[in-house]
Amino acid sequence: MRTYVNEAPKKVGETVTLMGWVDSRRDHGKVTFIDLRDVSGTVQAVVTPEIPGADDLRAECAVEVEGLVKARPEKLVNDKMPDGLGTIEIEVRGAKLLGAAEVLPIAVTTDGTEIGEEVRMKYRYLDLRRPRLQRNLRVRHRVIAAIRRYLDERGFVEVETPNLTNPTPEGARDYLVPSRLQPGSFYALPQSPQQFKQLLMVAGVEKYFQIARCFRDEDTRGDRQAEFTQLDLEMSFVEQEDVIALNEALLIDLVEKNFPEKKIQEIPFPRITYADAVAQYGSDRPDLRKDTSDPNLLAFCWVIDFPFFEKNREGGWTFTHNPFSAAQPQHEQNLMNGSDVADILAAQYDIVLNGYEIGGGSIRNHKPEALRAALKIMGYDEERTERGFGHMLEALSYGAPPHGGIAWGLDRLVMLLLGEPNIREVMAFPKTGDGRDLMAGAPVPVSKEQLDELRIKIIEK
Ligand code: AMO
Repeated sequence: MRTYVNEAPKKVGETVTLMGWVDSRRDHGKVTFIDLRDVSGTVQAVVTPEIPGADDLRAECAVEVEGLVKARPEKLVNDKMPDGLGTIEIEVRGAKLLGAAEVLPIAVTTDGTEIGEEVRMKYRYLDLRRPRLQRNLRVRHRVIAAIRRYLDERGFVEVETPNLTNPTPEGARDYLVPSRLQPGSFYALPQSPQQFKQLLMVAGVEKYFQIARCFRDEDTRGDRQAEFTQLDLEMSFVEQEDVIALNEALLIDLVEKNFPEKKIQEIPFPRITYADAVAQYGSDRPDLRKDTSDPNLLAFCWVIDFPFFEKNREGGWTFTHNPFSAAQPQHEQNLMNGSDVADILAAQYDIVLNGYEIGGGSIRNHKPEALRAALKIMGYDEERTERGFGHMLEALSYGAPPHGGIAWGLDRLVMLLLGEPNIREVMAFPKTGDGRDLMAGAPVPVSKEQLDELRIKIIEK
């Protein structure tokens, strides 16, 4: 039976079978030292040349090792190794090669920052072997698991929503997917589950969340990928204060339980109006940290009181966040009348951490006439309103509860909790700045047959 590496210290005097990878190999003439690594840890093994399979124990091969667990002499104990692994070594009795490894194109035992990112991406499955990225994958998992647990305990239901859908405006370009069965028509991949979560409120779900994949065809940056993950959340019969309170409590619980080394600068999280943020910090995502040399300091803040509309390039009005937001109660009348448009504040809030926008949301226009009024201010005529929002307007006309919610950029939050410089380091398979997957080679041209089936013609430049 297999023993995990971290269980070995409890088995001194026993013979165990370990499985994993050869982390390193050091030949010392009569003996060879191997560091054997599995998912639970790394342990030193001593191999003598006459052991069957000894020569097969080469760097990064997948191997099975049978050996006696021996306590190290006092002076050779290494206290720095976790789980007591520095107190033992494995005297190898037999070794078996399970998966041979060619010489790896990149080092995987370093932290990887010395390697060009293109090569790391091309060999991402090897890159992910390095301890830093293993840690990142696991911490990301822990964050998601903690969120799910917290929300489940409070009656939230995780509901999956479609990825093949119609365009939803979040201010970026859509990824389009051609329909074979309706030639000439396209699905859009969701920029967010915004419309579906609102429809779930009409459906009576009341407390929804989803760890949701979102797609936005925009130029990528350190904190922006074409494909990213949100914690998406929506609640019925709530006001701004309820959404803020729940999310603040969840963030605090998440940090305190899973990142005890971190210190939240101020609780309750300070709130700052959009106007003050821009006036005082020149940004709507101010970095409020009092000490930027402390990597464990988390300065959360809420930015509130966003203007509903801003001027677009053509001089008309457009929404600042999304068209579904409600006006703040005292500005509702102006929204309905289309008066003093520049001064209308939205019931909208962003959550900011150390200068990054890690989430945003709003209370929605749950009355169809309010959504219509917002669209009218933005110059939508009857036809465009029907085409883009007809189904939403109709749904809101069947007893829609007041509702609101938020979406967190999960990648950004995990990046900040891990102190990583960009979100690619916390995603298993990120894309390059120009949207390519260097490992799988996507995107690729497709065959003429596939294009014909979709009735699509490529225009050569
Ligand atoms: P918004 O567009 O503000 O709101 O998105 C919410 C959060 O998602 C993160 N984010 C991104 N992260 C990585 N790469 C990207 N390209 C990217 N774009 C956005 C940010 C942002 O704060 N439906 C609304 C939410 C709502 O109103 O409930 C929405 O998507 O951290």
